[in-house]
Amino acid sequence: MNKLIDRITEEVTKAFTEAGYDEKYGKVTLSNRPDLCEFQCNGAMAAAKEYKCAPFMISDKIAESLAANPMFEMAESVKPGFLNLKINSDYLAEYLNSMQKDEGRFGMDKAEDPKTIMIDYGGPNVAKPLHVGHLRSAIIGESVKRIGKFVGHNVIGDVHLGDWGLQMGLIITELKERKPELVYFDESYTGEYPEEPPFTISELEEIYPTASGKSKEDAAYKEAAMQATFELQNGRRGYQALLSHILNVSVTDLKRNYENLNVSFELWKGESDAQPYIPDMVEKMKKDGFAYISDGALVVDVKEETDTKEVPPCMILKSDGASLYNTTDLATLVWRMKDYNPDEVIYVVDKRQELYFTQVFRCARKTGIVKPETELKFLGFGTMNGKDGKPFKTRQGGVMRLEYLLSSINEEMLKKILENQKSKEDLDINEEEAKATAKTVALSAVKYGDLSNQASKDYIFDVERFTSFEGNTGPYILYTIVRIKSILGKYQAQGKSVEECLSNIKAASSASQKDLMLALSRFNGVIENAYEETAPHKICAYIYELANAFNGFYHGTKILSETDEETQKSYIAILMLTKEILEVCIDLLGFSAPERM
Ligand code: ARG
Repeated sequence: MNKLIDRITEEVTKAFTEAGYDEKYGKVTLSNRPDLCEFQCNGAMAAAKEYKCAPFMISDKIAESLAANPMFEMAESVKPGFLNLKINSDYLAEYLNSMQKDEGRFGMDKAEDPKTIMIDYGGPNVAKPLHVGHLRSAIIGESVKRIGKFVGHNVIGDVHLGDWGLQMGLIITELKERKPELVYFDESYTGEYPEEPPFTISELEEIYPTASGKSKEDAAYKEAAMQATFELQNGRRGYQALLSHILNVSVTDLKRNYENLNVSFELWKGESDAQPYIPDMVEKMKKDGFAYISDGALVVDVKEETDTKEVPPCMILKSDGASLYNTTDLATLVWRMKDYNPDEVIYVVDKRQELYFTQVFRCARKTGIVKPETELKFLGFGTMNGKDGKPFKTRQGGVMRLEYLLSSINEEMLKKILENQKSKEDLDINEEEAKATAKTVALSAVKYGDLSNQASKDYIFDVERFTSFEGNTGPYILYTIVRIKSILGKYQAQGKSVEECLSNIKAASSASQKDLMLALSRFNGVIENAYEETAPHKICAYIYELANAFNGFYHGTKILSETDEETQKSYIAILMLTKEILEVCIDLLGFSAPERM
């Protein structure tokens, strides 16, 4: 379905060309003076220069021709030459009826030629618990993925586990200190290794920080860990078996954590999956003359003439021949191209890694790992800060585990829900429901609190504000949905059918109703824009406006006691559409609404 604003632009453009002006002047935008009009066109101001006359002479002419157009309730020329427009209310009602009939999509067309898009997000490191630093990547990546899928693309999320490198050697070394008798350390052993892992997740989570601490103090320990890493990477059987155990135990735990966040991945690949592709990749880079030795290391130049800041060469192999983070990311692109041939790869990573990704992208392009037309996008996000404006920490100053963060918000939310319930006699929620509801609402608080900011900006994690039922918050949006559900429930309790109301929307009878209807009509444009700009925050801004518009309408309108049946049906249809659009939008953000709260 065409966007409403495009349909309006089309009519205004026609008016311009019929009056003898160029079509480019007919562009219509949303009004920036909603007190005066709903849409505006400033084309006459620009056209006046070309046609050498006063702008209002043009806008007067256009307004006159639009006055006869049934699409508009008002088309006014305002000095010095603006066109102020209001859409005809019947036209708007019909537009919403068509949206409602377009089930599940509400006027948003599916992409005509779907792309394959891979999203690299999450990026947890195995054997380390998820902490708040991983929260943003998970939340933003999941939303970007859902938006892409809704638009109709083939979107594949890859968690890109950090499962290679020194951290693995550290764990192996510490395990060897503790249990040297394990068969994994016996180099002469040739049999099958046990299926049972030699540690639990909580042991694993304790082993890594212990090992990491020791290696900082004890040079010999660090040396041993590096040696273990080297042997693992060179295929030592026992260590590879240990790696599989570490991976299995970790991944099971990670999946549980991500599930609590309503985040999932199509692919659970890791850095280690890229290793087999490294030798050929490096060979080719050398053969093609891109890679050369500099200070012992193998590098590829990636600077460009237009650079204003220095972009250092991309290092492919260290002087000892060891691979790096870069090497892994490049080799990961090799299998991504081979197995999925994506049109686009989006990386949702901390923005402090921006220069690094500039190097990787340029190197991949230069050496032909990706095709010239493959788009590589870096979606860098800012830091989540505490109320003191510094990176979010525990009260003791440590890194906060994601689990703790979430459970503290769940508790906060549960308190609020129980309090809220006290003020409403008709709400008798039992403890179990209250807990489940608290979890749903808490997730909306965390996710909306994050996603409502432009990704690249830092933001302050403010539990108090995020969990509030008022203001620009997730719980406020859910509260609005729950309010609509409650009205619909009461309507049905009067023995009436909601289905019979669908697509029975009539012209607005109040300003607040028209505001709501205009907000609803913008849905397809908002989603298109959020997709094109990879910007979930645009959906947040939209649903906040939509929820406000709904609440404005709700407070000024008697819905359940309306006696005119047709008017009431129209209200109910609008309520349904509002509810459905809010629900689609929060699903794109990665959370859902409870039945009541
Ligand atoms: N594991 C990394 C970290 O914790 C993030 C990975 C980002 N993705 C990538 N393809 N490099 O910092």
